[in-house]
Amino acid sequence: MTALPTTAQPTGLEWDLLERVPGRPLPGHLYTDAAVYDADLRHVFGRHWFLATTEAEVREPGDFVTIDVDRRSIIVIRDDDGQVRAFHNVCRHRGARLLTEPSGFVGNLTCGYHSWTYGTDGRLLHAPGLTGTDPACLSLRAVAVRAVAGLVFLSLAAVPPTDIDDFAALATPYLEPHGLARAKVAAQVDLEEAGNWKLVMENNRECYHCDGHPELSCSFFPTYGLEAHEVPERLRPAHERFTAAEADLHARCVELGLPDALLEDLVDPDVAHRVAREPLDGAGESFSLTGRAVVRRPLADLGEARLGRLSIHTQPNAWLHVLSDHAVVFSVLPLGVDRTLVRTTWLVHEDAVEGVDYDLAELTHVWTETNAQDSAFVALTQAGVADPAYEPGPYTSSEYQVDHFLSWYTAKMLDGLTAGRAS
Ligand code: FES
Ligand SMILES: [Fe+2]
Repeated sequence: MTALPTTAQPTGLEWDLLERVPGRPLPGHLYTDAAVYDADLRHVFGRHWFLATTEAEVREPGDFVTIDVDRRSIIVIRDDDGQVRAFHNVCRHRGARLLTEPSGFVGNLTCGYHSWTYGTDGRLLHAPGLTGTDPACLSLRAVAVRAVAGLVFLSLAAVPPTDIDDFAALATPYLEPHGLARAKVAAQVDLEEAGNWKLVMENNRECYHCDGHPELSCSFFPTYGLEAHEVPERLRPAHERFTAAEADLHARCVELGLPDALLEDLVDPDVAHRVAREPLDGAGESFSLTGRAVVRRPLADLGEARLGRLSIHTQPNAWLHVLSDHAVVFSVLPLGVDRTLVRTTWLVHEDAVEGVDYDLAELTHVWTETNAQDSAFVALTQAGVADPAYEPGPYTSSEYQVDHFLSWYTAKMLDGLTAGRAS
């Protein structure tokens, strides 16, 4: 049990968090209660860096995407100087939404209501008839943005946590050789799942359920998360293949100068993370039914297709896999207490041509099926944890990342709730 903070009286939610039993999920109402969801928005998504998009989605000056986090909408745009910026999607006049499309291109940002016009750097350029107020005071409200080797993180905090620098320093040497910052989007699919965002994340953080993913299991070793002594008899052959593929992958990484040491701290940092290179089964090249590459043009010119997956988990809301031929990036964005958007983005080399270098259906097949299966698991769990009969059950050892996610969540929520009471 976490130590009780010393200031003032803890709230009911703080007691619930303080009494969390490590090694088990949360009590049901933490997944179903609207007040807890509001606290999640405030203390997790409102205070910590989260993965919002990729540089591939804002490649040229004027390219933008809008990112919704519950009722908030944030514009991520590449400005005229080539810098990625982010702003609240709220006009400084009377608050109208500026951009209503999920993505696109603009020269300037012109409000559709009274035509106030902002530059791509957020400065108010034109406000018809406005007098007596310095336009410099009416720039769009900025959101902290940080690009890390092609990934774009946002922080809604007034003072964003600084350890994004640490994460950038450790993740960049892994990501940079794969050229994500120069990649292009081959496909993006938004899936609305019928579950609380924490259940979506918990489901991602283990492969105990991977028997439910027949397509993924063609290339994803089913022994993920298991120590050698925990591998059941039926998975022994897979474990032996994994061990050999892991040694082979390590040798290739050494040869190519690619870092492959496991970096894992999913509990303490603000940008809690896991960075790992892991082999793939079958041909070992990509997520496909044979494990062979599905994009003819490699993502980066590394001269080797059999690189498994560079897998990165970040908290609170993301995971991604970088393969030799493409990358697939997932971000989790809360829509409501029991509704969550899972956005999947497939990235390929900027010069790869659909229909020539890749077939879109083949590229997206494994994760389209896997996402649908995960979505069903999440919906079943949401229904179950809302049932008065639910009691949190014990995790197996292969679910340690789920436990770490909840340890991170619990600590960050308590930090936020305690700070809120003290201020
Ligand atoms: S609300 Fe945007 S110009 Fe008036
Ligand atoms: Fe899954």
